[in-house]
Amino acid sequence: MVKVTTVPTQPYNDQKPGTSGLRKRVKVFQQRNYTENFIQSIMHVIEGGSEGATLVVGGDGRYYLDEVMQIIIQFSVAAGIKKLIIPQHGLVSTPAGSHLIRKYKATGGILLTASHNPGGPDKDFGIKYNVRNGGPAPENVTNRIFDISKSLQQLTYAADMPRVDYGTIGTQTLGDTLEIQVIDSIDDYVDLMKEIFDFGAIRSFLDKNKDTFKVLFDGMHGVTGIYGERLFVKEFGLAKASCLMRSTPLADFGGEHPDPNLTYAHELVERVEKDQIDFGAASDGDGDRNMVLGKHAFVTPSDSVAVIAHYALDAIPYFRKNGGVHGLARSMPTSRALDLVAQKQQLEHFEVPTGWKFFGNLMDAGRCSICGEESFGTGSDHVREKDGVWAILAWLSIVVHVNKTKPGAGVYDILQDHYKMYGRNFFSRYDYEEVDGQKANELMQHLRELNINGQTFNGFTVSEIDDFEYKDPIDGSVSSHQGMRVMFKDGSRFVVRLSGTGSQGATIRLYVEKYSNDPSEYATETQKALEPLIRVALDISRLEHFTGRDKPTVIT
Ligand code: G1P
Ligand code: ZN
Repeated sequence: MVKVTTVPTQPYNDQKPGTSGLRKRVKVFQQRNYTENFIQSIMHVIEGGSEGATLVVGGDGRYYLDEVMQIIIQFSVAAGIKKLIIPQHGLVSTPAGSHLIRKYKATGGILLTASHNPGGPDKDFGIKYNVRNGGPAPENVTNRIFDISKSLQQLTYAADMPRVDYGTIGTQTLGDTLEIQVIDSIDDYVDLMKEIFDFGAIRSFLDKNKDTFKVLFDGMHGVTGIYGERLFVKEFGLAKASCLMRSTPLADFGGEHPDPNLTYAHELVERVEKDQIDFGAASDGDGDRNMVLGKHAFVTPSDSVAVIAHYALDAIPYFRKNGGVHGLARSMPTSRALDLVAQKQQLEHFEVPTGWKFFGNLMDAGRCSICGEESFGTGSDHVREKDGVWAILAWLSIVVHVNKTKPGAGVYDILQDHYKMYGRNFFSRYDYEEVDGQKANELMQHLRELNINGQTFNGFTVSEIDDFEYKDPIDGSVSSHQGMRVMFKDGSRFVVRLSGTGSQGATIRLYVEKYSNDPSEYATETQKALEPLIRVALDISRLEHFTGRDKPTVIT
């Protein structure tokens, strides 16, 4: 017997979902009724009301997952939810969760993840609400969640319910109406990938080149290990011992940052060079980010989306099946390499603010097929989240395609060919983490007040400075103050913005981009090519003065 009770609660005033859900330290979520309040607030905003709704619920396996799964079940019973679809053990990558919402025509989903942030009792947890189209809840919904949370007075849930098991596939009914369906967590997603990519071609390429073409996938102890094993071992026939590393999901990600970049995936980077790996790839804790590299070649995410767009029609069957590529998009700080592909292919292209949610409207309107962010996010309109595994399979498909006419070509050759066609957009991001919030705001204010148009710094002449604003072409909504852009006459630029996902202090991001169409520069190392521009950016922004930092925490 399930007993529903209503109890009084005290509202919290800090439950404002950020760029990607509510992310806080586990300790914050463990405060009295903190998680319960937030889940209750979500129940109030479910489209069409919670009664009769279907939700997909799962997460990246991080510490505290089970406690929150149980709380969600307790509130679902009380709120009259008709059905919860739970991937076995509650494990689902964010893009696979997005797919499940779409495939099963669910009303929405609750994804339990803090993405690439570390996990564990003293680290981070996150709760994110996604809507019917499979994408993160838009701002009007997250604002409503926040408003409700600030004045919440009571909680209605099945507080004393015994723990519900979701480790076994099957269906169970709770209370009068709630059906809980536990499904295989990998099948649906792999089926989708099979519709998108040519698995036969990938498998036969890897088989034919098994002695020469080495693959290594780093699951970073996040959720994608389970998909990686299914794909690389079972579907593509590679040997588990050699093609996978850190593929078991762990609640604390092995104590590391599950963030695929040169800093946090250094073990993969080192192994690629040491073991002469041809194709190295990693994905973050919840599987939406990706990194691709090869021998002497690191694919910057900005280049990645441009290269994928260039080859999409020829190398990825999905786009042919869908009548072509319908528009491209990138986040504002992402380099403009993608724009060059769009121009050449005469495709519509968009520059949107940081955050995947801004791509959703364009995709729903059929105006964006492929998009990417410099923060290791790449994806397409097959789901409404960025998709790490998809990006990795896209690159593998490109390698297979290029090898048809250029046997032996690897990641390095594909990049160099791309630069020869389009020129090279050198790009780097400097992060200054846990900076004092007030100092970060002073820096932004300083940039807003700059009046230096026409002035030359170290050979770079300022052509324009603005605070990026975006008007959504579909719903007309306007997002202001999305980052300061300082642009130069030669097409170079730098951007400064504050992170919306940090859980401690302020994080300042400095993005630097320089275009070159001089072939003698294409093989230059990125930091070297950008050095003069970085000095100019630090000089103009006075970043070191405001933050007291003489070097960034992370360079990507
Ligand atoms: C960061 C990235 C952004 C990404 C977001 C969620 O947000 O910069 O591109 O969409 O994480 O993964 P930020 O911390 O910069 O607000
Ligand atoms: Zn993520």
